[in-house]
Amino acid sequence: MGVGCGAVKNLRFLSYRNVRRSVLLVLGAALCSSPMVLGQAPIQLPAPQMTGGKPLMQALAERRTTRAFRDQALPTQTLSNLLWAAFGVNRPRSVRPDLGRTAPSAMNRQEVELYVVLAQGVFVYDAEANLLKPVSAGDERGKVGSGDAAHAAATIVYVADPKLAFAQVDTGFIGQNVYLFAASEGLNAWFYALHGQQDAAAVAAALKLPEGKTPLYAQSVGYP
Ligand SMILES: Cc1cc2nc3c(=O)[nH]c(=O)nc-3n(C[C@H](O)[C@H](O)[C@H](O)COP(=O)(O)O)c2cc1C
Repeated sequence: MGVGCGAVKNLRFLSYRNVRRSVLLVLGAALCSSPMVLGQAPIQLPAPQMTGGKPLMQALAERRTTRAFRDQALPTQTLSNLLWAAFGVNRPRSVRPDLGRTAPSAMNRQEVELYVVLAQGVFVYDAEANLLKPVSAGDERGKVGSGDAAHAAATIVYVADPKLAFAQVDTGFIGQNVYLFAASEGLNAWFYALHGQQDAAAVAAALKLPEGKTPLYAQSVGYP
């Protein structure tokens, strides 16, 4: 008699109710341990393209704030390139053990987190994994941006612990990277403070920010 027969014998002790309970338990455990937000999977971004684009001097010449946006999503490759330009990893741990990014940060603390608000939901950019981690499903763009920014393809919200003295400066470097990428790609971009309609507390709630984290600024990017 083989091992299989023993297993079959044991199955006799499993009533239908027990089997159903076991299946539910396994499913529940799988859901709890999964990083998936209900209805929203992580987005693995394609590797960023680090060549091409307009020459730096031309991108600087064309950099500007433009507050008009068409409601049209960016291709995933463009989104990956945008986020890499903003604050991606340009020196992996094999080159710099504490990681090098496309924007500097005081003491290389890299304390600014990029929340990415898209039509399909809110995500956090994990630069090292080149991944968008889901925070919530649904279109929250109108809770962050006003006017046309309410339907811009992507709004990046810069989030940090406001007690960290250099977070604002570090955000500025990232914001300029985004402006230059947008100029290079022929996209519109608008960096703005969160006040009035884009009240910081309301944005923090929409992004489900944890205690101690504040949205410092937002920047919308999209098609003219
Ligand atoms: C720290 C900072 C905060 C800003 N806040 C706002 C804002 O709340 N609303 C807005 O419409 N523009 C805002 N802007 C965009 C500026 O108005 C814009 O950069 C300025 O008019 C110069 O235009 P330019 O970017 O085309 O050179 C902000 C820019 C910075 C750097």
